[in-house]
Amino acid sequence: MDAASSIRPALTPPVHIALIMDGNGRWAKRRGLPRFAGHQQGAESVRTVVRSCRELGIRFVTLYAFSSENWKRPASEVDDLMGLLRLYVRRERDELVREGVRVRFIGDRTRLAPDIQGLLDEAEQRTAGNSLLTVCIALNYGSRSEIVDAARRIARQVAAGLLAPDAVDEATFQEALDTRGIPDPDLVIRTSGEQRLSNFLLWQSAYAELIFTPTLWPDFSRADLEQAISEYHRRERRYGTTSG
Ligand code: FPP
Repeated sequence: MDAASSIRPALTPPVHIALIMDGNGRWAKRRGLPRFAGHQQGAESVRTVVRSCRELGIRFVTLYAFSSENWKRPASEVDDLMGLLRLYVRRERDELVREGVRVRFIGDRTRLAPDIQGLLDEAEQRTAGNSLLTVCIALNYGSRSEIVDAARRIARQVAAGLLAPDAVDEATFQEALDTRGIPDPDLVIRTSGEQRLSNFLLWQSAYAELIFTPTLWPDFSRADLEQAISEYHRRERRYGTTSG
């Protein structure tokens, strides 16, 4: 180790990376393929990213798989996405259990088909003892309604006399959100060139670094993930520098 690297602080990987997976439709269109093909390839990217996060020592990864707005898509596309979700959970669950991955789902799952709800419950229960990497999948998720639900939950506790209004603080809120127990994301990545949060983890991303990449989600590779992490470290280093 040379003198310079021995005094350079070690780079700690971000603890939690959140991903807005976008561009499946455009990926398919560019190839003259149906949108389903883009979603199918997008599910492959999910596998790649989960594996890469495990190998890179990331502790939490959250994936925006289906927003509450996505119900407005044609019924056939919604069916395709739900079908892929079923397939993904059925195909991956044994490996996730073996690999020490914990799976959690956030969002309102009551509107999902009963068999999917069963699969999600089962995957959560079977992986509950794992802690190497937590994969959190947002389904029928919208951040504003998550916040409103949290406010309702807290209001009920106050109305029941279990909590004093003045005792409500940020920690109370944090505990009332779907993401309770999961640290805030350090880094939010959105693919496909769009530069919006689209109602994703609004509370939780208050201090997150935001990275927007032109790569379409089905093309998102381990190299893209590593590049985003490098950019995150560059920003961290800049903010850590004293100026003046
Ligand atoms: C955006 O592409 C992506 C989605 C609507 C959802 C992401 C879904 C997957 C990656 C597939 C299955 C997920 C899991 C967890 C197995 P878009 O259709 O909005 O693309 P466009 O903006 O180019 O039309």
